[in-house]
Amino acid sequence: MNRYALVLAAGKGTRMKTEIPKVAFPILKKPIIEYIIGHFEKAGIDEKYLVVGYKKEVVQDIIKDRAKYVVQEEQLGTGHAALQAAPILSKLEGNTFIMPGDVPLIWYKEILRIFETHEENGNDLTVVTAIYDDPEGYGRIIRNQQGQITHIVEEKDANSYEKEIKEINTGIYVVNNQKFFNLLDQLDKNNAKGEYYITDMIALMRKEYKVGTYTVKNPNVAMGVNDLYQVSLAEKYLRQYINKEHMVNGVNMLNPDTITIGHNVIIEPGVTIYPNTTITGNTVIKAGAIIGPNTEIHNSRIHSNAHIRHSLVYDSEVGENTTVGPFAHLREHAVIGANNRIGNFVEVKKSTTGDDTKASHLAYIGDAEVGSHVNFGCGTITVNYDGKTKHKTKIGDYAFIGCNTNLIAPIEIGDNVFIAAGSTVTKNVPSNGFAIARSRQVTKSDYAKYLIKPIELKEENK
Ligand code: UD1
Ligand code: CA
Repeated sequence: MNRYALVLAAGKGTRMKTEIPKVAFPILKKPIIEYIIGHFEKAGIDEKYLVVGYKKEVVQDIIKDRAKYVVQEEQLGTGHAALQAAPILSKLEGNTFIMPGDVPLIWYKEILRIFETHEENGNDLTVVTAIYDDPEGYGRIIRNQQGQITHIVEEKDANSYEKEIKEINTGIYVVNNQKFFNLLDQLDKNNAKGEYYITDMIALMRKEYKVGTYTVKNPNVAMGVNDLYQVSLAEKYLRQYINKEHMVNGVNMLNPDTITIGHNVIIEPGVTIYPNTTITGNTVIKAGAIIGPNTEIHNSRIHSNAHIRHSLVYDSEVGENTTVGPFAHLREHAVIGANNRIGNFVEVKKSTTGDDTKASHLAYIGDAEVGSHVNFGCGTITVNYDGKTKHKTKIGDYAFIGCNTNLIAPIEIGDNVFIAAGSTVTKNVPSNGFAIARSRQVTKSDYAKYLIKPIELKEENK
């Protein structure tokens, strides 16, 4: 049987009270809709259709050609959203997994189990349900005395007896394409919201076809995200789930409730992560690395035995055995070699360093190509910006840059160069050279009394 997917993602998400469309809202820095499309890709569903409407360009910009699009110009309800895809899907033989665009945690194995149950039971419509202690806001599943589902009642349309029902509609269905999509135009909007409810299809389908249910074992996977509180809940479940996977896989996490690891992050066994650390994007952390506390890493590669604490690392790479922090900032493709030390209050931007290089305190290295065994004295700055353009600094191997040096780019410093502390270097320094660029000291004896009130020196210090 061919398998298709249809995601309803045209709504604004009014309850979010945010400007961006709900399905584009990020959870662990990744848009909700991207989770869903990712689950379908993993489940091997080839044809994915996305119903878009409100700010559709934002959604399309995220998903690009990973799905096909159907536009719902006016948001008249979930049934109306699905109807927009009926001309296409009613002609495709097979089953379609229909789901709302705001259920990010329904992972691919559950999707496959739902498809399998639908096919094995020979259903024409399978409604995916969950049991919630607090079912408020969800549609309730109504069953007859034989235990068969008869219909779904939305929260707004439910009476007090129905509101007590804890079995809810997850908004997820698998349907037989021809049967379901050819009946869809029979929906009406006689309900509290005055919308076309896809949930009314249960009663319609039951008249002629086989309707069954599938109940998820872990209700968290089916939670809908309607407001920012539910965003925080989804994030919490996802965080716990991801952290558990890593810990079982040999990653040591101290106080894991304060550690946030994104969905695409790869962490090798033997890594230790300290509290208040967030690792997101396409980050890879190799064995033996120690990360945190209080560290943010995004889209970066951290090699074996690197040690990063109290620091920010964005779109960068940290070599083997390198230490970063406390309070360092690597960004925009800072590529740090092995055995480096990037210490207190050091910022590195769009620069590379060779192995065994050190910038231990208070330095800015930007747009630089730095060799190995270089030593940056405290307070060294690559002066890369003239107000209009960024310029490059090149530094060879074994250069020793004295404290408080300004390297005015564009500039090239050769191998084995020594630069005296306090220099403002404006010209290239060839290999093996020594440069000093500061005014000579003038010392006037017995002159300080003109500038400050002298204190009485003790006899023995005169
Ligand atoms: C829906 C279900 C409810 C279920 C819940 C599960 C209906 C009528 N109700 O309620 O039974 O318990 O999901 O999470 O289906 N959308 C469109 N076009 C529209 C309206 C909605 O594309 O015209 C999309 C939204 O972008 C959203 C999804 O459909 O991604 C669900 O809409 P939402 O308003 O969140 O439905 P719920 O009230 O949560
Ligand atoms: Ca919803």
